[in-house]
Amino acid sequence: MKTNQSEELVKEPVKTDTKEAVIEITGLCKSFGGQEVLNNLSFKLFNGENLVVLGKSGSGKSVLIKCIVGLLKSDSGTIQVFNQDITKLTVKELGEVRQKIGFLFQSGALYDSMTVKENLEFPLRRMKEHVNQKEIDEKIKDVLENVGLADALDKMPSQLSGGMRKRISLARTIVVDPLIILYDEPTTGLDPVTSEEISLLINDVQKKYKTSSIIITHDIECARTTADRLIMLQDGQVYEKGSLNKFEKSTDELIMAFFK
Ligand SMILES: Nc1ncnc2c1ncn2[C@@H]1O[C@H](COP(=O)(O)OP(=O)(O)O)[C@@H](O)[C@H]1O
Ligand SMILES: [Mg+2]
Repeated sequence: MKTNQSEELVKEPVKTDTKEAVIEITGLCKSFGGQEVLNNLSFKLFNGENLVVLGKSGSGKSVLIKCIVGLLKSDSGTIQVFNQDITKLTVKELGEVRQKIGFLFQSGALYDSMTVKENLEFPLRRMKEHVNQKEIDEKIKDVLENVGLADALDKMPSQLSGGMRKRISLARTIVVDPLIILYDEPTTGLDPVTSEEISLLINDVQKKYKTSSIIITHDIECARTTADRLIMLQDGQVYEKGSLNKFEKSTDELIMAFFK
């Protein structure tokens, strides 16, 4: 595991070859009853970047990523994923786009009655029907090494610490080769040291698998470690966007509340 020696905690920028958007959200609206959660929200996720989405609890961050994977239906606006508006796709077409998107849930729940290996085999068998057992075994070995848990293969989830379970959840997300990963509060509930390990692992995954990611968080240390760029949500819209440096130097009260 690499360590972050930088005093300023500014991430070495990842090369984004082009300014190609892999996700482009335009005018997204979502209400529940009379409550407007997303209100004309627009932003882009560029190829290869880690985009951190900050926002207070209840600001609609989870609703946003559920709309992106089609778990929630938006009221209006467009969500282009690889230039396809997923709000207009059939169930079958949506299924194909979703294969390209990995989703690390806030709970990151593993199947308690299955070993780590079985937990990782499950999505592989479901999504990649043509792979044989040898390929599956190699793939699982590879991802476990990449999350630093090569020896956890035959463990049960109950034998793992919270940080280890999070690593296995991440392994399960990357085992099917997603192009985009959506992280919902990846460090919530973890102690500061483990949180930093998970944040560094998010960067490792970005580099190794060349993924583009949205990292939803209210953990400012996670944002500092992982962000190539940030946006902050407020009242269902993008309140501010830009570099970590821009956010750190902001004199806006709402932003300073995060960066104190
Ligand atoms: N399925 C739902 N039905 C009704 N209200 C919801 C639903 N999902 C989320 N909300 C409401 O939307 C708002 C934003 O929720 P959420 O996206 O979970 O916030 P957070 O930014 O903390 O992730 C909250 O007020 C929540 O109560
Ligand atoms: Mg949430």
